[in-house]
Amino acid sequence: MHWPMAFERGDELMPRRPDGTVRYDNTHYRDTWAAMEKLVDQGLVKAIGLSNFNARQIDDILSIAKHKPVVNQVECHPYLVQTQLVSHCWRRGLAVTAYSPLGSPDRPWVTPGEAHLLDDPRVVGLAKCYNKTPAQVIIRWHIQRGVICIPKSVTSSRIKQNIEVFDFKLTEEDMRVIESFNRNERLIIPTIIIDGQKVWRDAKHPHFPFNDPY
Ligand SMILES: NC(=O)c1ccc[n+]([C@@H]2O[C@H](COP(=O)([O-])OP(=O)(O)OC[C@H]3O[C@@H](n4cnc5c(N)ncnc54)[C@H](OP(=O)(O)O)[C@@H]3O)[C@@H](O)[C@H]2O)c1
Repeated sequence: MHWPMAFERGDELMPRRPDGTVRYDNTHYRDTWAAMEKLVDQGLVKAIGLSNFNARQIDDILSIAKHKPVVNQVECHPYLVQTQLVSHCWRRGLAVTAYSPLGSPDRPWVTPGEAHLLDDPRVVGLAKCYNKTPAQVIIRWHIQRGVICIPKSVTSSRIKQNIEVFDFKLTEEDMRVIESFNRNERLIIPTIIIDGQKVWRDAKHPHFPFNDPY
């Protein structure tokens, strides 16, 4: 389930009003979960999972689940290491998948001149030490801490490079160093402009996940 908030039914993937605000549906995520469980019962899917759920919402799903979620897919990278949420998922038996694991340098709303994770001199320095690229060091960091990661690339040489991360190991100290780059910064929250101000698009929705600390 991509988000805890439900969007209006219909053919439009992202139903919006002219001002950019989303047309929501009042379906509760617990009811969506029950509908997804039927797909497992019918043998149409093997496993079901969550995305962008906070710890409280995960526990809410677990309290009613017949089929437990196998995964929570959340934004995660060295600028948003998600230590508490990752631990919470693992304690509850969910795997964690990191989306935008490289800091999503091509996200359309990137601020001009903004520093990218892959160009962070500390990451570049580590990459030189290991004779690897910055992307490989970050992917290795995710994998080595036990987080699944799904780097996206349309470039065949990078796709190949992103798989070549099983022939080296980061030291425990370097693992901690990378974790220390955390600045609890979400890069991937949908935003809209209201009265000239950029605001989180879904922040006022009762099921918006990111008003909780984790
Ligand atoms: N569940 C959710 O709500 C959610 C939200 C956001 C994203 N996602 C998923 O997460 C996946 C990845 O997220 P993302 O695309 O936002 O971010 P990302 O994987 O962190 O970054 C993708 C960017 O990194 C570049 N890149 C990839 N490998 C590289 C390398 N070895 N060296 C240098 N640059 C490299 C890509 O360039 P090129 O493509 O030009 O090579 C692209 O610009 C996607 O599959 C997406 O669908 C899920």
